[in-house]
Amino acid sequence: MANMKDDKIKLKRENDALYNPNRWILFKSFKNTLRMFGQSIDGLFLSKLYVKPCVLKNIDIGSGKVTKYKNKNVLVYRESKNEYIFLKNKCTHMGCTLIWNNVDKVWISRCHGTIYDKYGKVLYGPGIKDLERLN
Ligand code: FES
Repeated sequence: MANMKDDKIKLKRENDALYNPNRWILFKSFKNTLRMFGQSIDGLFLSKLYVKPCVLKNIDIGSGKVTKYKNKNVLVYRESKNEYIFLKNKCTHMGCTLIWNNVDKVWISRCHGTIYDKYGKVLYGPGIKDLERLN
């Protein structure tokens, strides 16, 4: 009986720092906040600046690419030799740009990770609306 009581006291002391609402995590939180802020700036603004046009026929069949097409920043998925799917490069959650994941064949938002299938249909939130199809 005395041992159980000792164990409870010992356990409480080991976790005191973890459950202390005044623990010092400000610097760690600040670094994470800066990192997330940088990702948002990139997803919302910078990544829109360095999109380059490409030759559509150079996109592999079954692959996607972020490109400039007719002066618009678009997502292109090449379905077959002559069939392309064009989507607006704007996440429906908060407007960040997207990147192509060639392993899973999905579009992923740079900011909060909404995942869309190759046709722009939402697979995983936080976004709830599908991407705007342009063709
Ligand atoms: S802006 Fe795309 S998930 Fe938030």
